[in-house]
Amino acid sequence: MRYLILSDIHSNCEALAAVLAHVRRKRWDKAIVLGDVVGYGANPNQAIDVVRRLRPLVAIRGNHDKVCSGIEDGQMFNRVALHAAMWTREHLTPSNLRWLHGLPEGPAVVDGAFAVAHGTPIDEDAYIFGEIEALNVFRQTTFPLCFFGHSHFPVIFGLSTDAIQTVLTNGSSFRFRLEPGLRYLVNPGSIGQPRDGNPLASFGMFDTTTRTVTVYRVQYPIVRTQKKILDAGLPRPLADRLALGR
Ligand SMILES: [Fe+2]
Repeated sequence: MRYLILSDIHSNCEALAAVLAHVRRKRWDKAIVLGDVVGYGANPNQAIDVVRRLRPLVAIRGNHDKVCSGIEDGQMFNRVALHAAMWTREHLTPSNLRWLHGLPEGPAVVDGAFAVAHGTPIDEDAYIFGEIEALNVFRQTTFPLCFFGHSHFPVIFGLSTDAIQTVLTNGSSFRFRLEPGLRYLVNPGSIGQPRDGNPLASFGMFDTTTRTVTVYRVQYPIVRTQKKILDAGLPRPLADRLALGR
């Protein structure tokens, strides 16, 4: 099986289109969405429409999906994120609002093969930035492999009996083989709002036959996306940060 792993699209339909164009000639069997389909960007309906057409699809909700669909009020959000969430809530079609509201909470187990979570498999809103958080998650769970998002930072944590290792991906295509007996936490990075200093859209592919995870980075028309954000009256920092990747 080959899984297409998508996370943190954040209403960026140009980035999502570029990712799907990139994988058009690659075979994939199932799409996985790790949450935050919307929030920040100017095209929430277009992003949801595209995700809803991916088949087969396993999708879980992110913190922005909860606020944008009215499940939570966004008390924990900063001013810019809250502004974008309220704008998104007002602009979603009734059908897309219902779909977003109905996204399940993570973690979920996919085909008995791996777990998926937005923030962590213990708390969907918590972050894994570094090894200490990763180690705490490993200690409180038992899954051999979990894909997660939320930090917008592509990274692979591997736990052996002796140590935890971090692999920060670099370059336009990074292929990593999962070793037998080790446990892994893998973040494929963010499609719509990367924050690792690289503005290219980031996503992953997991091949269960070769036991490899590949993280890809693809270009998309950032200036067009920025213009849409500004034209929609959304806060300027949301547009500016796209060019910086942070
Ligand atoms: Fe996010």
